[in-house]
Amino acid sequence: MPACVDVARWRRDWEAAMRHYQPGRDEMLATGLAAVEEAHGRTPERVLDIGGGPGTTAEAMLRRWPGAHVTVLDVDPVLLALTDTALPHVRTVRADIATERWRAPAGGPYDVMLAMMTLHYLPGDRVRAWYAEARQLLRPGGLLLVADAMRDAPSVVPAQPATGGTDPWAEWWTRLAGEPAMASLRRARAAALASPTCAEFVAPIGWHRDTARRGGLCDARVLHQRADHVLMAFRRPEEHR
Ligand SMILES: C[S@@+](CC[C@H](N)C(=O)[O-])C[C@H]1O[C@@H](n2cnc3c(N)ncnc32)[C@H](O)[C@@H]1O
Repeated sequence: MPACVDVARWRRDWEAAMRHYQPGRDEMLATGLAAVEEAHGRTPERVLDIGGGPGTTAEAMLRRWPGAHVTVLDVDPVLLALTDTALPHVRTVRADIATERWRAPAGGPYDVMLAMMTLHYLPGDRVRAWYAEARQLLRPGGLLLVADAMRDAPSVVPAQPATGGTDPWAEWWTRLAGEPAMASLRRARAAALASPTCAEFVAPIGWHRDTARRGGLCDARVLHQRADHVLMAFRRPEEHR
């Protein structure tokens, strides 16, 4: 990352955009992390943030769990470079969860895995397979947190227009496109993401519960809900011999 890039500002603006789309984001994350501590009985040691973007959620987790080994996995080289620069002690992994091949570079087993506003990028069939794959990366008894829009709706919906005529997400990327220092990372992004698409997948809470259960996860719980934005937790069952 070129030294002249104001990494702190890009990450701050990212977080502001995410808060726009995800009402109650801070409270939701705090609820999820408290649930992890309760289930785990102590702070977790190994954490995977799937689709962790520029690492703002990873940073919040590290503030709460300073001794944790946090890995941020994402498909986007621009976002991973922001994480690398801001959080040099965090492991970053470039992998695409749209194929089952993401599991090998992801590593594991993890005490906690988190997918925050990430699953809606995948089509429904892929989310189905993803729950079973995620289970394999959790240690027995480990927790998976999934936060996304969940509602009774057709499985694919058009992107929600932002209020007030502005779209902070699109604006963030448009500004980045105008930053000369980001040019080489943008080229890496263009090469890595043949076609950066988002499936805008939305399903009801019950769909996630049933799909996760079929994928081998148990104890589905809704931890937080604000409008359509839901945080759910799932557990990998303990193995009894
Ligand atoms: C809306 S952002 C959320 C980022 C972060 N979890 C947060 O809450 O700030 C969605 C993230 O998922 C990542 N993503 C989308 N499709 C992906 C894929 N197929 N494999 C890995 N990451 C993906 C994007 O690059 C982006 O970082």
